[in-house]
Amino acid sequence: MNRRSLLAGVGGLFAAGGVASVLAPAAAADPATRPDRDGRVEALLGKMTLEEKLGQLQLVGTEDLARTSLATGQLGGVFSVVGAAKLNALQKIAVEQTRLRIPLIFGLDVIHGYTTNFPIPLAQGASFDPGVAAADATVAAKEARRSGIHWTYAPMMDVTHEPRWGRIAEGYGEDPYLASKMAVAKVRGYQGDDYSSPDRLAACAKHFVAYGGAEGGRDYNTVDVSLQRLHNLYLPPFKASVEAGVATVMASFNTISGVPAHGNGYVLHDVLKGAYGFRGFVVSDYTGIEELILHGLAGDGADAAAAALPAGVDMEMVSTNYVRYGKQLLAERRITRDQIDDAVRRILLVKFKLGLFERPYVDESGEVKAPSPAALPASRQAAGRCMVLLKNDGPVLPLAKSVRSVAVVGPLGAATYDLNGTWAGLGTGAWTTPPVTVVDGIKAAAPGATVTFTAGCAVEGADTSGFAAAQQAARAADVTVVVVGETAAMSGEAAARSNIDLPGVQQQLVAAIKDTGKPFVVVLVNGRPLTIPYLHDNAPAILEAWAPGVQGGHAIADVLFGVVNPSGKLPVSFPRAVGQIPIYYNHENTGRPADPANKYTSKYLDLESGPLYEFGHGLSYTTFRVDGLRLSATRMPARGGRIEVSARVTNTGARAGDEVVQLYLRDPVASIVQPVRRLRGFQRVTLAAGASKTVSFTLTPEDVGFYDNAAKFRVEPGKIEVYVGTSSAATLTASFTVT
Ligand code: NOJ
Repeated sequence: MNRRSLLAGVGGLFAAGGVASVLAPAAAADPATRPDRDGRVEALLGKMTLEEKLGQLQLVGTEDLARTSLATGQLGGVFSVVGAAKLNALQKIAVEQTRLRIPLIFGLDVIHGYTTNFPIPLAQGASFDPGVAAADATVAAKEARRSGIHWTYAPMMDVTHEPRWGRIAEGYGEDPYLASKMAVAKVRGYQGDDYSSPDRLAACAKHFVAYGGAEGGRDYNTVDVSLQRLHNLYLPPFKASVEAGVATVMASFNTISGVPAHGNGYVLHDVLKGAYGFRGFVVSDYTGIEELILHGLAGDGADAAAAALPAGVDMEMVSTNYVRYGKQLLAERRITRDQIDDAVRRILLVKFKLGLFERPYVDESGEVKAPSPAALPASRQAAGRCMVLLKNDGPVLPLAKSVRSVAVVGPLGAATYDLNGTWAGLGTGAWTTPPVTVVDGIKAAAPGATVTFTAGCAVEGADTSGFAAAQQAARAADVTVVVVGETAAMSGEAAARSNIDLPGVQQQLVAAIKDTGKPFVVVLVNGRPLTIPYLHDNAPAILEAWAPGVQGGHAIADVLFGVVNPSGKLPVSFPRAVGQIPIYYNHENTGRPADPANKYTSKYLDLESGPLYEFGHGLSYTTFRVDGLRLSATRMPARGGRIEVSARVTNTGARAGDEVVQLYLRDPVASIVQPVRRLRGFQRVTLAAGASKTVSFTLTPEDVGFYDNAAKFRVEPGKIEVYVGTSSAATLTASFTVT
């Protein structure tokens, strides 16, 4: 019995073949999952020995290992090695000293910049502007490809309800629609129309799939998920990325309802390659195939390879079970020649599409070793669009440019590389240009002012001995900017936190500044939502700057002084307390929705219901009104229907600004309980003071349908409520009927 049928026997729905029939006709049969036949690939494949084929499936992460594997001709690609000369030297061995001269593919985690770091992806989600993701990807692709990299392990598109999970920083937050739009923009930004271009990269949609569902927010942890949630919540960004032509996909470290992703034929084979028709290749995550042993799906390395290859993992990162056991497994009929050929075809096709056979080397004189003059302003502009003004009472912001003195206080006020956040500094020149600090940004923005810096405390630890100096600085200044939050290492991979308060004594530092009675604002630098009810109650203004990238200090100053009017919106709910997690706007209703007047409703005895700041929340230095909601029809046929929703947005304040108009839907009665709201449209508009604009959204059956627990997409007749406004708490509403 081969591995796939074995899994079908024991794994039920999540093993290969389990629910294939309900997905789409394409999912059922093996041939449908084959990559497109390409003459060049077929010709090459026909010449390859079994050893050479297995070699193409191997990806290693160091130069030494690459040389060792090349000596036996068994290597398909290398990752995490940077430097044009080093990469060319490895490539030379592959194209001059191996029998078939097949070039290597070079990968790297170019997550939010190669040399020029843009804001972290979570911040980019807050821009509600796919143009920001596209700008990041375009700049990064150019820098990386010119430095010899072909392939990036991005975009990460794991939707999550878990702010404790450090990798929330790498994705676009809690909403599948927003994540899909951002991910697609990023894929297109990396790949362009043709990723053989010297300015483009092959992208990698990761991590497939449901990695964001890690229990307790602990990285790599178990995920047990219903089919409807898998398809409605976690899969949509991947489906959209496949439709956008993403070249590769990376499997995730987690289990999915008992079957680790690396051995999960249902998600990889049936859904990704079958139903979605993905024709690129699937790479394992770092030792992900080997880890099937510790997961308990495989008894040894041979078993692990026998689970992963038929499930649909084409290339093995770091561990070496395919090259080691491939031949034996074939002889034992635990894998098939077709499965090996299928994987090799997919990898070769991407190499051909990258143009590596024609141009295996990079021009070393074009290597990018420092951010270019054009890239820095792009990063600064992007960061400005990502910042979220959480609160502004008074209002105390923006600061006047004529301010005479500013005290910058807080451990992140003079931070450099922490402003880049996680997954930064991997490119060749990434350490040549430290990010602009907040102090320096403020000095540049207010050249006439006296600007001081006093840390007050460290990000972590209990030492409050610097508080007195910080208070003294605050007393001496017109205004204090308190910069607190997390270091770069506190979010990202393997950086889960059980407590997401401001670390260390930073909250006490804010309290000490408040005690001076002088005006102050708080700037947050962090890679996840934090629990900040104290700040909400005590700080006059809070600006969420996330990890804003290499121009961070300038971008923060742009917003503090009103050169940029803040317009970011939260891509994720901010909880009041860690005990509320998971808390997300697109939740299902219970039979007893929270009601403060009724004990027997769904709530905590010791905490107000709802988030501190809701999904989609974000203020501006001006104000907006949304009204005039109109629907083009009251009925939408379930087949081929279409409704235009329009509303007028007016800038009711005194300065120009951007608003993100958001459209949410609710299906109040359905065969599967539906979220109380779900985002199905957003538009960023720029309006001068007093100006109005009508925004419109087109809804089709795809927007009102959902996947059921047999993974079948359903569009059901009945009422659909529409909400339009400036956050997920929008109240302007209308409805139509699906017929
Ligand atoms: C492990 C991470 O999970 C993945 O996101 C990354 O691309 C690989 N390591 C390669 O560095």
